[in-house]
Amino acid sequence: MSKNLFKYRMYGRRQARKKNNFNTNNKEKNVIEDINSKKIKFLKKNYNILDIGSGSGESTLHLNDRYPDSQIIACDNFKDGNINLSNKILSKKLNNIIIFNGNVLELIDKKIKEDTLDSVWILFPDPWPKKRHSKRRLISSFFIKKLSNLIKKNGHIHIAIDTDFYLRQILIIIHKYRKIFLWENQGFESWEYDDSTLPKTKYYKKAMKFDRIPFYINLKKL
Ligand SMILES: C[S@@+](CC[C@H](N)C(=O)[O-])C[C@H]1O[C@@H](n2cnc3c(N)ncnc32)[C@H](O)[C@@H]1O
Repeated sequence: MSKNLFKYRMYGRRQARKKNNFNTNNKEKNVIEDINSKKIKFLKKNYNILDIGSGSGESTLHLNDRYPDSQIIACDNFKDGNINLSNKILSKKLNNIIIFNGNVLELIDKKIKEDTLDSVWILFPDPWPKKRHSKRRLISSFFIKKLSNLIKKNGHIHIAIDTDFYLRQILIIIHKYRKIFLWENQGFESWEYDDSTLPKTKYYKKAMKFDRIPFYINLKKL
């Protein structure tokens, strides 16, 4: 395995088990980009959003409605979800969203410049509950430190989580970086995931179905 393949190795599924009827045509290829794409870039002057683990794209479309003048990169390595979102982007004729098909770690290392992001969304990241898999969790001290260099002053990280052990891990990281990020919604009521203002994603609905209460965290870069 080459160094890069190892460094940006992904766990979890890249495609649905059942073959979907999505037709990957040239139009979709114009929306779904890989790491070599010249289209993937953010200009500092714009309002730039990175939607990490965009899944089937409910969050990306929600963010586009909420911030219509923004530039958005939706990032996921799950191809079926990316195709689903690309179909919606094409049917709505949106030209401010690009989908990056791949590992966000590679995206931020190679394509995102310092001080360019206004908001980063990480909704319901994979929990990897087994102890031996815990290193696979996306939100780590290392990852938040990396993001901190890319986010503009007063920019935000929005996180939603529905497992206690991952929440605990994230709270420890928030405490560690308390001089870099202010945890804005520390009040008990404001932890609630308000689905009238936040996206009702597939994994939000799953959490509700199984009575797991989602916890919302809003961090502001100081
Ligand atoms: C549990 S799903 C949540 C999807 C969506 N945010 C939602 O709330 O329905 C987590 C998603 O993150 C993606 N993912 C996990 N690690 C990733 C990484 N390093 N880079 C890009 N996507 C990643 C997975 O492929 C999966 O689609």
